[in-house]
Amino acid sequence: MDFRLSEDHLLIQAAARDFAQQEIAPSAQAFDLSGEFPSANIAKAGELGFMGVEVPEAYGGAGLDTLSFVVMLEEIAAADAAHSTIISVNNSLYCNGILQFGTEAQKIQFVLPIASGKAVGCYGLTEPQSGSDAGNSRTRAVLAADGSHYVINGKKSWITSGPVADFMLLFATVDPSRGAKGVSAFLVDTHQPGLIRGRSEPKLGIRASATCEIEFADYRLPVANRLGEEGQGFLIAMTVLDAGRIGIAAQSVGIARAAYDAAVDYARERKAFGARIGTFQMIQLKIADMKCRLDAARLLTYRAAWNKLEARKAGLRNTTEASVAKLFASETAMFCTHQALQIHGGMGYSKDLPLERYFRDAKITEIYEGTSEIQRMVIARQETGLR
Ligand code: CAA
Repeated sequence: MDFRLSEDHLLIQAAARDFAQQEIAPSAQAFDLSGEFPSANIAKAGELGFMGVEVPEAYGGAGLDTLSFVVMLEEIAAADAAHSTIISVNNSLYCNGILQFGTEAQKIQFVLPIASGKAVGCYGLTEPQSGSDAGNSRTRAVLAADGSHYVINGKKSWITSGPVADFMLLFATVDPSRGAKGVSAFLVDTHQPGLIRGRSEPKLGIRASATCEIEFADYRLPVANRLGEEGQGFLIAMTVLDAGRIGIAAQSVGIARAAYDAAVDYARERKAFGARIGTFQMIQLKIADMKCRLDAARLLTYRAAWNKLEARKAGLRNTTEASVAKLFASETAMFCTHQALQIHGGMGYSKDLPLERYFRDAKITEIYEGTSEIQRMVIARQETGLR
């Protein structure tokens, strides 16, 4: 077994690091303060192939593997988590599902513009009354009498990139009496009548990744835009989340790394009681614990990325590996940002340094794409076979 990245992976890592440090990092604080969506940076990410890393070139993407995706995303997140959220959702929650379950025509219409960065995609699963209980959808899709289109009514909430997205992978029920088995997936053009965007959510962190409610009021969706079969939607949603959670793991590693690097630098430079604080055992303990968790989180994320492709080839699910990586990495991001802020003392609490932003941004990784509690439930169910 070789733990080193290949030449190709090192190349994408270097390209992503250059872009992240030169284009994103300098403006991260301003975007955090304004909450403005970073359209120009996202367009540049598209030009670099980062909006559809695993998408074949024929559909506008870079045609690389999942490890390339996570290596790229760690670099973006280390500069700014909000940018990495937008990029992760575009790649893993939006493009992935259409590539796996879509027809050729759907891939051309709905993946090509998104993977090339000319348009933005979003994922519509959560509703005001169903977050963790994702199968409990009330958004309703009713097939018209002539069978040509669905009429969609209902409300989706916490939609990442919702305020600006051009297309949405939507989940709605065609038969509420069937629970999760009644859910279907649809490809929505957000610029058609009957789709109403709500106000942008005022959030604790990842503030430049715009989030809003999206309401459907008699929205007409052509039957050709249903993804997969009727009733296959929950399976699609979960399969897509098994990919998305690897993205959130990579994002978490990036946030944790940024905090860790800042803490090590500060421990080397800062003096107290006549010595550099990095010589104090209580600081050393924090640095050692951060380093162990950061390395473990990255290795679990790489394993999940590798396993995703292996599992797909074998027709298996990559549920456990994705949830293990997401759970451990997100708690690592929270741990490392907490410890790094503490090492910085008062300076960590100031907006003059990015530590407080890392700390606020880290929290969402324990919540979205399945809370830490849901990840533990998923892992335990997979391990025991019990429900
Ligand atoms: N892959 C394939 N199939 C799966 C699956 C998976 N990962 N998970 C479940 N299924 C299948 C089950 O096998 C089952 O099929 P059968 O009935 O044929 O056996 C069916 O789906 C129903 O599964 P469960 O009985 O396990 O469903 P449940 O209602 O108990 O809940 C859950 C499952 C794991 C809790 C799920 O609802 C879940 O993951 N919840 C969290 C939702 C989530 O992550 N939301 C985040 C939204 S996206 C986001 O955060 C926004 C963003 O933009 C970043």
